[in-house]
Amino acid sequence: MKDILLDKTSKKPGAKKAKAVPIATVSSDNLDAFRRALPSAGARWIEANGFKGSRGQLLLMPGEDGDIARVLFGLGGQSEAATRDAFLPGHLSSQLPDGTYVFEDGLPDPELATLGWLLNAYRFDRYRKPGGTKAQLVAPDGIDTAAVRRVASGACLARDLINIPAEDMGPGELEKATRDLARGHKARVKVTKGEDLLARNFPMIHTVGRASDRAPRLIDMVWGAAGKPKVTLVGKGVCFDTGGLNLKPGGSMALMKKDMGGAANVLGLASMIMAAKLPVRLRVLIPAVDNNVSANAFRPSDVLLSRNGMTVEIANTDAEGRLVVADALSLADEESPDLIVDMATLTGAARVALGPDLPPFYTDDEVLAADVAAHCSATSDPVWRMPLWPRYDGWLDSKIADVNHISEGGFAGSVTAALFLKRFVSKARSYAHFDIYGWTPTARPGRPYGGADQAIRGLFSLLGERYGK
Ligand code: BES
Ligand code: MN
Ligand code: ZN
Repeated sequence: MKDILLDKTSKKPGAKKAKAVPIATVSSDNLDAFRRALPSAGARWIEANGFKGSRGQLLLMPGEDGDIARVLFGLGGQSEAATRDAFLPGHLSSQLPDGTYVFEDGLPDPELATLGWLLNAYRFDRYRKPGGTKAQLVAPDGIDTAAVRRVASGACLARDLINIPAEDMGPGELEKATRDLARGHKARVKVTKGEDLLARNFPMIHTVGRASDRAPRLIDMVWGAAGKPKVTLVGKGVCFDTGGLNLKPGGSMALMKKDMGGAANVLGLASMIMAAKLPVRLRVLIPAVDNNVSANAFRPSDVLLSRNGMTVEIANTDAEGRLVVADALSLADEESPDLIVDMATLTGAARVALGPDLPPFYTDDEVLAADVAAHCSATSDPVWRMPLWPRYDGWLDSKIADVNHISEGGFAGSVTAALFLKRFVSKARSYAHFDIYGWTPTARPGRPYGGADQAIRGLFSLLGERYGK
């Protein structure tokens, strides 16, 4: 991550701030008063340029020497408050010329605006020359810049891992990314790979992943003191999802490098937790596989044995994510942790229901549900609760096995996927499942096109409040 945030507590306090160009955020309701308070040349400049303070509108104010003296940025009107985005001022980081800037007083949410500035400047540069903005921001008064950086860097880690194409982000590279992260924080990593998955009883991870020449594996990272509250994160790590023998058509396969978005996001969240030294015993479980087509691929109609002993009938090899996540959830559940959170790009149905920006989450824990909603809303990291509707659980009945992994009709596809996963968790004190999309199809402030961090800033805020000092 580029460092474009300047601390005030650097060696010469105030030195940078003196040169920084001030940014005034102006709502359209206040524009008249704002303009009246200016010298007449400034007021005329605003008028001549048609600056109305509308949402996202930008105006550079010239100084007498021809420099940029001030930046005006529109926040829109009060009536737009419901759709206002706390990241909006952050959009400036990609719009302003190179230079150093500082927000004037009166900015609605300085911490999220600063985070938005950093997240907005994210650019995926692995396969091209580094570029993009050099607009630097002097940190607003009273914000914890170290905390903002930790969150930005975790979110950008998630984006990077998703953006890297499957050729360069297979199960082995996902393992390496986990080991690299672990090394920086003295976490331990254990990997169960290939045939060992059978010996150690992860049959569904093996079966889904066996058709790839990149060996399937379960990545198990543990960090923190044994006596602390146990928080376990499980992330779907399907490095590429062809659909298997139920092959996806080309259009549906195009974006399937992002099918390890759950793994990428839990690693991003783990990075925030470890960097903040949150007093928890953290565990991250990632089943990392390719869902491939090959002579030894699993088939529709097969019956798989799962880690917890249930037999699972396969109706469609494209519903592979829930199988590998299920074996990882079983392992997570065995030590009765305080909290299990899984994140997975699990269903197209979630996107049909809520679109790409709003991941559904599922939990039976009412307190957790309220906390997730509150923290995600407060951090501009939107999510929406959907129900683990008990009556649909019967839709997973199989005529020949303990359970079918999908329901026949396809109704409520995200709900039935969540109900399937829930069957593999019984001992954890609390459990939530996030059916994320992991991708930003249309850039918005703070959210450039491509791999997306979703729900992890909200979850980090929740964990900080629950378990922090
Ligand atoms: N990875 C996909 C789900 C997905 C597709 C997420 C598109 C985001 C965008 C998953 O493995 C899958 O293919 N699910 C199937 C399930 C179906 C066969 C029951 C789906 O959603 O179509
Ligand atoms: Mn699939
Ligand atoms: Zn998938």
